[in-house]
Amino acid sequence: MTIHHIAVVGAGTMGNGIAQVAATTGFTVTLLDAYPSALEKGLATLKKSVAKLHEKGRLTDEQAAAVERLRTGTDLAGVGEADLVIEAASEDLEVKLKLFRELDRQARFGALLASNTSSISLTRLGAATKRPEKVAGLHFFNPVPIMSLVEIVKGLGTGNGTITTLVAVAEKMGKTPVVVNDAPGFISNRILCPMINEAVFALEEGVAPRESIDTIMRLGMNHPMGPLTLADMVGLDVVLAVMEVLHRDLGDDKYRPAPLLRRMVDAGYLGRKTGRGFYEYDQKA
Ligand code: 3HC
Repeated sequence: MTIHHIAVVGAGTMGNGIAQVAATTGFTVTLLDAYPSALEKGLATLKKSVAKLHEKGRLTDEQAAAVERLRTGTDLAGVGEADLVIEAASEDLEVKLKLFRELDRQARFGALLASNTSSISLTRLGAATKRPEKVAGLHFFNPVPIMSLVEIVKGLGTGNGTITTLVAVAEKMGKTPVVVNDAPGFISNRILCPMINEAVFALEEGVAPRESIDTIMRLGMNHPMGPLTLADMVGLDVVLAVMEVLHRDLGDDKYRPAPLLRRMVDAGYLGRKTGRGFYEYDQKA
């Protein structure tokens, strides 16, 4: 199966990044969000990022112009013409189950349904539809236009043909696909989020201040960002949601979320997007 038209559901950080990469690599793209204000904000971010990459010569004139052809909408019926739907809504099981049931009704027969979920079971999302063989994970990384990995997640019911098609889509997007089987947190977040969570435990226990923890991991391990800075970029709510899935679904207390992480999410200190996380930010981003 060849994919020409991609619909992205959710215009937040990940959704607008995915739509940007898809549009600039030759796909017809429809970006949907139920909230007009979220759609507007997502489009503005996307255009700013394209302008930056175009200015640096990393996108051709033709690639940058593709953004002008991007279709947008607030109604899920907008997925009707797509060959592939990529869901990038909130990291919440109930929200995603409801969306997948609806996408199954709205998407055309034979269209693939993918989720950019950070940890939720693709087997479960697939089972909520009448086409589990067409459902898989397409997990992008933030910032999507820069990061080269796409983790492709194969649910228990996912067909091999679906995986082959998604590998081709990721490659056309200029990314490196890696296929893994469905399991809590897949590979990426099963390893990344416990590292971040451990950094929060160390902060809470007073082992070292935030800057020291981040500097140790940056300079000692050559990570581009320290774990607390990275948590602020990813969103503390997302990190907590992943830890809760790992804790519940793997049933091991070594995955329990750090109490400070939970308190910060309760307080609304979600990171860059709210102007405050482990660090403070001038503007809401
Ligand atoms: N659009 C366009 N360009 C962008 C961009 C965007 N959205 N974001 C960054 N850039 C560009 C910058 O303009 C800069 O370009 P230049 O080198 O030509 O000047 C380049 O990327 C590097 O950016 P900066 O100079 O601002 O800063 P850094 O050198 O520190 O790089 C970073 C930023 C790429 C984010 C780097 O710090 C990094 O790789 N951090 C780790 C990111 C990471 O781990 N992401 C995964 C998170 S986990 C996830 O997403 C999964 C989820 O399920 C939780």
